[in-house]
Amino acid sequence: MREAEIEPSIYAADFLRLGQQVDELLAAGARIFHVDIGDGRFIPPITIGPVVVQALAPVVHARGGRLDCHLMVENPEHHFDQVARAGGDSVTFHVEACADIPAAATRARSLGLGVGLAFNPDTGVEKTAALSGHADLVLCMSVHPGYSGQEFIPESIGRVRQLRDAVSEQTLVQVDGGIVESNVGAVRDAGADLIVAGSAVFYHDDVAEAYGGLVRAAG
Ligand code: DX5
Ligand code: ZN
Repeated sequence: MREAEIEPSIYAADFLRLGQQVDELLAAGARIFHVDIGDGRFIPPITIGPVVVQALAPVVHARGGRLDCHLMVENPEHHFDQVARAGGDSVTFHVEACADIPAAATRARSLGLGVGLAFNPDTGVEKTAALSGHADLVLCMSVHPGYSGQEFIPESIGRVRQLRDAVSEQTLVQVDGGIVESNVGAVRDAGADLIVAGSAVFYHDDVAEAYGGLVRAAG
């Protein structure tokens, strides 16, 4: 088994202190930061946009880190250019929101972006698995996308296992939503390589300590 990576999701950050919290997490060893870009259409709220990616990119890249941009938007391909220019390293977009996934993946790669394919809790694993040859990572949502701080959907464990079995060895499996210290080990054992955590990191005074607790619990 590869080592799992815990990715802090900055959607849950204290935006008044975002730079400081990201610095603390970099010092604690975090190297992939998850940026939730939502358009108020694919998901109800408008969340974070490329200007935030632009602000973080120099700091994160200087420490060898990456910005993993989760596009919870309709027509995600319309935003690839802006994300790439802002310094995003990869775009993960939803199978529910994209009409031509092979074309979108090709477009993202032409801009130098990594490619992820995400799917919602009420979408079958099969469609994403079948398209996974176009992606570097596949993202199994373990909450309905929209907000940080929701409860983990327990059936996600089985879906992660199913996904891991269905995709190639080199495809990374990512899980996003409701991750806490008490479920991160099970998610890891089900085959997740990249584990996103928002509230479990940022809804704490000491974000580095909370991040470290998740890393240890993931084993
Ligand atoms: C949910 C987002 C998640 C969210 C995770 O719509 O895609 O990345 O920020 O937050 P937690 O870990 O609190 O569920
Ligand atoms: Zn996300």
